[in-house]
Amino acid sequence: MQLWTRRKFFVNSLAGSALAGAGQLLGKTPGIAGSEEGTIFRAPANTAAGGVRPVIISSANGLHALDKGMDILKAGGDTLDAAVAAVTVVEDDPNDDSVGYGGLPNEEGVVELDASVMHGPTRRAGSVASVQKIKNVARLAKTVMERTNHVMIVGDGARRFAVAEGFEEQNLLTEHSRKIWLAWKAKTSFNWRPGIDSPEWKDYMTELFDGDAEKIAYAEEKIAHPPTGTINCLAVNAKGEVSGTTTTSGLSWKIPGRVGDSPIIGAGLYVDGDVGGAGSTGKGEENIKIAGGHTIVEMMRKGIKPTDACLEALGRVARNYNGDKKKLGTFHLFFYAVNKDGEYGGASLWKNTYDRPKPAQFAVHDGTEARLELCKPFFDEIGGDE
Ligand code: GLY
Repeated sequence: MQLWTRRKFFVNSLAGSALAGAGQLLGKTPGIAGSEEGTIFRAPANTAAGGVRPVIISSANGLHALDKGMDILKAGGDTLDAAVAAVTVVEDDPNDDSVGYGGLPNEEGVVELDASVMHGPTRRAGSVASVQKIKNVARLAKTVMERTNHVMIVGDGARRFAVAEGFEEQNLLTEHSRKIWLAWKAKTSFNWRPGIDSPEWKDYMTELFDGDAEKIAYAEEKIAHPPTGTINCLAVNAKGEVSGTTTTSGLSWKIPGRVGDSPIIGAGLYVDGDVGGAGSTGKGEENIKIAGGHTIVEMMRKGIKPTDACLEALGRVARNYNGDKKKLGTFHLFFYAVNKDGEYGGASLWKNTYDRPKPAQFAVHDGTEARLELCKPFFDEIGGDE
């Protein structure tokens, strides 16, 4: 509780300093259709803010994919094309079991994917949820944005829309993910364990993973902490245009039809071309309740730096549990943000991932090479004392 009080003070201080500058943020924006007469909030014109453009950032699992997006930005390509190209690499990767092909399935062993996109320059959005059999759902969300007058299509309607648009159907469950799902089934139900009367009887984990200790430990971790992995990617080009996408297989072992934050515009992703963009990975339910993506972009609109805006959003999540670290320690949540000046940041609820020796990180490519940077943590230890 003490720590929460301190954080609350920190957050309130940020809000206070932002309010002090609010007068400067109110301005006329001539030349924007429909707003000639109107008074709107504008991002501060602080181009000397220390940012770098072009820049592309993502959750840590996008490290190996950011080159693809940066190549498009350097060639003068579109920011959403860059972000979608980067996450497509991860959606196609069977070794990332939190996104696309090879994602961990729902409780019935079926992979269901969610994704969203936002295009800053044209101020448009697209999203899909609970999609089966279609691997590249970020591109599918972009297709919803480009080829329909809808913003969100879900379930079998989204799958049928994908087929109509020429996407290929395939089984998204890899052997790796199927075995971890079977291990989860066996762990949670005696019925899914081999009978002890079998002459070949072995402990079910030993049987499933051929006694491979590393694979067993990996599966145990996924069962103990059902992942909400996901990739969020945000891109800013040399002109200061911003777009983003978030794509995921969602919470492992979820009830079929469960939708997380990734496809929810304003939660798992939000972009305002006048300001910047923000997105998240981690437990979507907690983010949806604070509309994290939108909250962060609105903070940045008032001049708050990306990392501080991400921490502010995490403060709201902590507030929902009165700072109770025991409850908060049951999940993880990360936010990432960029502003149109090319300043960027990432923050995490906890200093480390559940895989405790690993610090919480995010990936950045600023034109030289892709690298990992540390997230600013809201709390130090998972469920422990700071
Ligand atoms: N953040 C991904 C999910 O909760 O589904």
